[in-house]
Amino acid sequence: MSIVEELEQLKVTALREIAEAADPAELDTVRVRYLGKKGQLTAVLRGLGSLTADERPAVGKVSNEVRAVLEEALSGRASELGEAVLRAKVAADAVDVSLPGRAHSPGHAHLISQITEQVVNVFIGLGYRVAEGPEVELDYYNFTALNHPPEHPARAATDTFYVRDLSVEGGSDAVESDVLLRTHTSPVQVRVLERQQPPVYIICPGQVYRRDIADPSHLPQFTQVEGLAVDEGITLGDLKGTLDHFVREIFGPDRRTRFRPHFFPFTEPSAEVDVSCGICGGSGCRFCKNTGWLEILGCGMVDPKVFGYVGIDPERYTGFAFGLGVERIAALKYNIPDVRMLLEGDMRFVRQF
Ligand code: DAH
Repeated sequence: MSIVEELEQLKVTALREIAEAADPAELDTVRVRYLGKKGQLTAVLRGLGSLTADERPAVGKVSNEVRAVLEEALSGRASELGEAVLRAKVAADAVDVSLPGRAHSPGHAHLISQITEQVVNVFIGLGYRVAEGPEVELDYYNFTALNHPPEHPARAATDTFYVRDLSVEGGSDAVESDVLLRTHTSPVQVRVLERQQPPVYIICPGQVYRRDIADPSHLPQFTQVEGLAVDEGITLGDLKGTLDHFVREIFGPDRRTRFRPHFFPFTEPSAEVDVSCGICGGSGCRFCKNTGWLEILGCGMVDPKVFGYVGIDPERYTGFAFGLGVERIAALKYNIPDVRMLLEGDMRFVRQF
């Protein structure tokens, strides 16, 4: 077989192997086998030197043609295989955009926030404005200006969280402790009346703190809403009418209210308000301890002594005030047996409201 025939043979074999290479690695092996340093075509080209001067040009021409054909076939097959690899990769990574997505829950306001907002909104609807005060409060606003005598039991360190205890710091003799976590939202009444002459109609939501152990009906931190109306000619009838309206807005039109005489240092007269039991309708059951009634808030006519602390003329102005616990309202509205459930963050509970 002449060299030229050998080259033709080599070309045919190489082209078949190139076409049959199944992946880029196999193709490279084929390339090295023919065109590499020790490849078969390279060997032929190296042997050109031993040919006669007559033979050389023809053999040289054919071998160059073979090299060119093989190189072209190699690059053609390489891009075919590259595309195949890419196609396989794309197929493996494919995302089915027509599948339904995973829904994200946007969440919602917690029941305590919902009830707080509902209560506040009832009074905004009556023309009241929202007022707020500090949670870290002075003894003066929390107790003194609300007519609590120095020996009042609520002032005891067993009932109230004190922040600054002057007796420990070696301070004045007159006051032992003067900075505390407010035990109710009533001090906001004093702060607003200090700055603003009547008419005053305010509603004050906020956190309050008491040294209570948490149990089904108590929390050491909870939410109160305070209301205050001071104007000329305000009567107990206005208080009753306002709270009646409030109770029906929150609990529904069928619920009745009852005012029971009570005592608070900063109102005179004072009362507690009960709402008819939503479970038995008033006939008596376990939830209302067989009374037919559930206590929901404290209220009364602003004591003239409080007006004295803030410089408002009690001859000209009268007012009423009330305070309620939001967690208690939530528990009574939805028959929640234990107020601690409101704070536990169990989503099975939270999602129901
Ligand atoms: N501050 C009282 C409490 O925390 C609730 C209260 C009762 C507020 C009567 C008032 C009121 O404004 O007039 O128990």
